[in-house]
Amino acid sequence: MSLSVFVREARVSESSADLTVLDASERARAERKRDSTPFVTGHALVRRSLGELLDRDPAELAFVRRCATCGSEQHGKPSPIDAPGWFFSLSYTANLAIVAVTEGVDVGVDVEELDDAGFEGFAPATLAPEEVPAFDGLSGHELLVARARVWARKEAILKATGHGLVVDPAEVLVSGPSQPPTMVDWRAEEPRPPFATLADLEPEAQDHRAAVAALTDRPLRIDLGRG
Ligand SMILES: CC(C)(COP(=O)(O)OP(=O)(O)OC[C@H]1O[C@@H](n2cnc3c(N)ncnc32)[C@H](O)[C@@H]1OP(=O)(O)O)[C@@H](O)C(=O)NCCC(=O)NCCS
Repeated sequence: MSLSVFVREARVSESSADLTVLDASERARAERKRDSTPFVTGHALVRRSLGELLDRDPAELAFVRRCATCGSEQHGKPSPIDAPGWFFSLSYTANLAIVAVTEGVDVGVDVEELDDAGFEGFAPATLAPEEVPAFDGLSGHELLVARARVWARKEAILKATGHGLVVDPAEVLVSGPSQPPTMVDWRAEEPRPPFATLADLEPEAQDHRAAVAALTDRPLRIDLGRG
């Protein structure tokens, strides 16, 4: 049986309605940011998405965080309080926020803006040596798409496990950009998740690529809520 993954996205834009749905600690975090709009859009999207799925008032939801590395509750992967068995993941760029929500299985989502994948040193920073040839011959837009896709797959897995970039993405091998998304190998010291199933997402924003990972061996059924 497939696992439903609810995916919602929002273009980053200033909105007083978004701000009012946040709690005091989120508003305080927003105030500390140089550009708070992506943060506000992202966290409001989390609240609205969970509110819709759990039939709860978005402003009433509360969250805990727990770091998979040191156990601190001051940072790390967030999860909703009072919603046992529900998991979510948030990712945002300067222009787009995406949230994935699942029940019963942990989930990670990552969105990348194509222009952000253009940096020199992409390969050594993110790829294992045997992943590099899949990018041979690509240039321009095609290369950015390929990089953003593979980068998003890796980071989605690391956000599902909660390790984030404490684990070197070059130690989490995924299929090549033109192949169906799968985790190929886990070479990090940190414990390998028993299962990780990936799906590529096609954001409505064409200049982005995204991926979702769930810690399951079940196939993923992506519910985009687009009607
Ligand atoms: C998780 C991480 C990869 C996200 O990086 P990013 O690409 O800049 O940001 P994204 O927009 O994709 O995701 C940000 C969201 O991921 C979530 N998140 C934070 N830490 C997370 C973790 N360890 N695992 C999964 N999700 C996490 C939060 O919702 C965060 O949003 P917020 O910062 O506004 O609260 C990065 O922050 C990271 O590596 N964190 C781990 C750092 C760490 O654990 N250090 C060791 C401390 S002992």
